[in-house]
Amino acid sequence: MIPWRRLGEGRADGSGTLVLAERDGEYSICVGGQELMSSRAHGSEEAMAQLTLAAAAPRDGMRILVAGLGMGFTLRATLDAARPDAAVVVAELVPAVVEWNRGPLAELAARPLADPRVTVETVEVGRLLRSTRTRFDAILFDIDNGPAALTRPANQLLYGVQGLGLVRGALRTGGAFSVWSASASPEFERTLARAGFSDVAAHRAAARGAAGGPAHTIFLALAR
Ligand SMILES: C[S@@+](CC[C@H](N)C(=O)[O-])C[C@H]1O[C@@H](n2cnc3c(N)ncnc32)[C@H](O)[C@@H]1O
Repeated sequence: MIPWRRLGEGRADGSGTLVLAERDGEYSICVGGQELMSSRAHGSEEAMAQLTLAAAAPRDGMRILVAGLGMGFTLRATLDAARPDAAVVVAELVPAVVEWNRGPLAELAARPLADPRVTVETVEVGRLLRSTRTRFDAILFDIDNGPAALTRPANQLLYGVQGLGLVRGALRTGGAFSVWSASASPEFERTLARAGFSDVAAHRAAARGAAGGPAHTIFLALAR
């Protein structure tokens, strides 16, 4: 069996050490021994972008926030679904992840960071939301394995009523919010409603898209 080759590591406040590894053309990002993202399966990350952009009220010059860069698959699908005049902000906590996306991972999702519509902020997304006056038309959260499967304990705050209220306050009327999760959670759907979101729904999306694989959950909610 071909062994994994360690390509780099990086960390940020409140996160464990992220390790990037490669084996026979497949890339993996792990934290604390748990896989955070693999290049093998990105169908549900892409479905998340398609669902969110289809749900957001369309207008000229849409502003979109993608939280969690990972390997760039959600960002690529967001760019593919967004109009040419959209502006996409990426909030990524770990500087090394941004470097990897400009280096060894760049081609996985066809260099999304090179798109002129994209601005990258190396920042914790809660911090960005507290400091920005921008109102977004769509906010996509893929910052962890889901509300019930945290690899970064501090992310718990963002999945609670207060954190989600912060997200709700950063959306324009008609804006859409989505959260990627490894598993379903009726409790999290109720939390989204308590935070002021409407039309809360949980969509199932296959890990490998048309090729199938395990089903992940995309929570989708609107700001009315
Ligand atoms: C599961 S990966 C995202 C995968 C991505 N959707 C893709 O298509 O490859 C999660 C990413 O979120 C970042 N992250 C974790 N917590 C964060 C936070 N609070 N703010 C911003 N980024 C965060 C991690 O460093 C990691 O790059």
